[in-house]
Amino acid sequence: MTPVIIQGSARRAGNTSLVATYLQQQRDCEVVDLLDLQFSGYDYQNRNKGDDFLPLMRRLVEQCDTIYFLTPVYWYTMSGLMKNFLDRLTDCVTIEKELGKRMKGKSLGLISMGSEEALNSHFDEPFRLTAGYLSMQYLGHYHTWCENGSLAPLAKEAIKSLTGKTD
Ligand SMILES: Cc1cc2nc3c(=O)[nH]c(=O)nc-3n(C[C@H](O)[C@H](O)[C@H](O)COP(=O)(O)O)c2cc1C
Repeated sequence: MTPVIIQGSARRAGNTSLVATYLQQQRDCEVVDLLDLQFSGYDYQNRNKGDDFLPLMRRLVEQCDTIYFLTPVYWYTMSGLMKNFLDRLTDCVTIEKELGKRMKGKSLGLISMGSEEALNSHFDEPFRLTAGYLSMQYLGHYHTWCENGSLAPLAKEAIKSLTGKTD
């Protein structure tokens, strides 16, 4: 099964996409750019159940066993787009419970892309706890940043660790 990267930047070809491209060079991965999907935030009345979120989740449970969440750091936390995606996981434990159950045993990794090496503590808590809630294996959090418009060498090392490559 091919791992899937869920990319949640506010721009398609920004710094976060550099990470997706680099990760793809390390390991055969599919990239899902949330900007390409039409989906809205959580709705208590589920009036958005016909948007692109549930079809994506149905495909993920069928076709992948590893999901890398890839988000820029916006105001000390994940992007709003990524948070909307996480909020919509509520659909998978309410109106589409079978989807939530089928996340069990899959792996979840997190990569953040900020403006510098330093990152506030506890950044990854929502992802780690979400993995636990869905009985997924948490692969850990790897932080990345750019230097002079390119992925920082240390950030590249972090991505290699995530994919298990050390060369
Ligand atoms: C709205 C916004 C908020 C940001 N907040 C932070 C922040 O809190 N910490 C940080 O390190 N960088 C912050 N940055 C910088 C971005 O994380 C950084 O430039 C990142 O590489 C952008 O990725 P992108 O090109 O995919 O958007 C912020 C950028 C934007 C646009």
